[in-house]
Amino acid sequence: MIEARGLYSYYGKSPVLQNLTFTLQKGELMSVLGRNGVGKTTLMRSFLGLTDRLEGSLCFGGAEIAGLRTADRARLGIGYIPQGREIIPRFTVRENIVMGTYARRDGRRDMPEFVFELFPILKDFLDRRGGDLSGGQQQQLAIARALAMDPQLLILDEPTEGIQPNIVQQIHDVILRLNREFGLTILLVEQNVPFARRVSDRFIVMDKGRIVIAGTGAELTDALAEKHLTF
Ligand SMILES: Nc1ncnc2c1ncn2[C@@H]1O[C@H](COP(=O)(O)OP(=O)(O)OP(=O)(O)O)[C@@H](O)[C@H]1O
Ligand SMILES: [Mg+2]
Repeated sequence: MIEARGLYSYYGKSPVLQNLTFTLQKGELMSVLGRNGVGKTTLMRSFLGLTDRLEGSLCFGGAEIAGLRTADRARLGIGYIPQGREIIPRFTVRENIVMGTYARRDGRRDMPEFVFELFPILKDFLDRRGGDLSGGQQQQLAIARALAMDPQLLILDEPTEGIQPNIVQQIHDVILRLNREFGLTILLVEQNVPFARRVSDRFIVMDKGRIVIAGTGAELTDALAEKHLTF
């Protein structure tokens, strides 16, 4: 489903990502780990065409997407939940979710009911402004918005960063269900090594814009994490 070959991604003149090569099969979950500032978010943004320039090849579902506009990539079924959530604070919960539907290929604008099965609290808060929700609820809303576009690939950038522990567990459960039950392919930036090990088919560790280790979930040992992720 995803194949990156010799991928470079630039902000201005500097290549933040350098020579990334990896593949991810349909229905798999891949975690992206690494210290601060190594290029994890840049990799996620590269999938949406949100960096200044890409070199190399980035294929999604057999199509080369490196040259496509952001809206066209979303329409191909790439759902993005950015680091820091980026919901629209003055829009209601309903409006935020409906916004996601504008990237749908089939033109439907209704909110998918399963979103409220995953996040019942959002149904109660439909008319509240997004900005009035707690951080954890905003994260749930950001996931709901991405699901409303009916994606095939879901990109989640540190979805539990700075979120109260009771909601962390809930978000972890939802990520697992979306992958195992709904069959979504998932790219997940995640700092929690035990969680990444438990849910990942594959992982990569990045350092200074490059992939320094790649393996299967089970190969993500504490010793490896200690070596590459501690400061
Ligand atoms: N919009 C931008 N313009 C220029 N440089 C940027 C931009 N965004 C990020 N960078 C630079 O690219 C590098 C990688 O940043 P990135 O945000 O991808 O790292 P990260 O691994 O996601 O870090 P964190 O763990 O803090 O989220 C950093 O050196 C950063 O300063
Ligand atoms: Mg980041």
